Amino acid sequence: MTTADAFVHVFEPASAPGAPTVLLLHGTGADEHDLLPLGRALAPGAALLSPRGKVDEHGANRWFRRLREGVFDVDDLIARAAELAAFVTAATRAYDLDPGRIVATGFSNGANTAAALLLLHPDLLAGAVLLAAGAPLQDREPDPVDLSGTRVFLGSGETDPITTIDQARLLAAQLGERGAEVTAREHPGGHAVPPRVLADARRWWQGSAF
Ligand code: MLT
Repeated sequence: MTTADAFVHVFEPASAPGAPTVLLLHGTGADEHDLLPLGRALAPGAALLSPRGKVDEHGANRWFRRLREGVFDVDDLIARAAELAAFVTAATRAYDLDPGRIVATGFSNGANTAAALLLLHPDLLAGAVLLAAGAPLQDREPDPVDLSGTRVFLGSGETDPITTIDQARLLAAQLGERGAEVTAREHPGGHAVPPRVLADARRWWQGSAF
């Protein structure tokens, strides 16, 4: 059985009573500490659960293998998303968190992984902030799961050379077709998160009643 020890992680308890939990999923080459300030800024007072991706790509932490930039090992992604989902469930129990109020926030490889959790484990998350995300299953059509009641914010760069805007739009469509309430914010930049997009994400979070 998977336990909360399955991933190296940081856990910060909520400082506000009844606050949701932010599941933070870092980008390639970062670790469990990278997105803690983002989590605090987006959701002040929330609990933070921040694991470290287990795939080692020449010393860089990732969540799943890729064959080269932009080409994923989708079978590995599916297996690792299942392992991560089991960890989140175990940590939810271990830290006595509300399982209905887990909201993922990810950047790049972490955002792709959060998108995979939404599409493959539709009951795990109440919502997600996906920054520089594309369609994680690539040319495979995701199952027709029910994501109604799930709120998703996407921040995507129109000139992103790594996660193309077409991939981001495909993900937005896949989520929307499955009933998620999608807010898609496109910016003129590349593989980054401009301050205005963060400000929009923060406003979106405040209006989301997680
Ligand atoms: C990926 O998941 O590979 C991202 O889209 C790109 C990256 O993490 O470098």
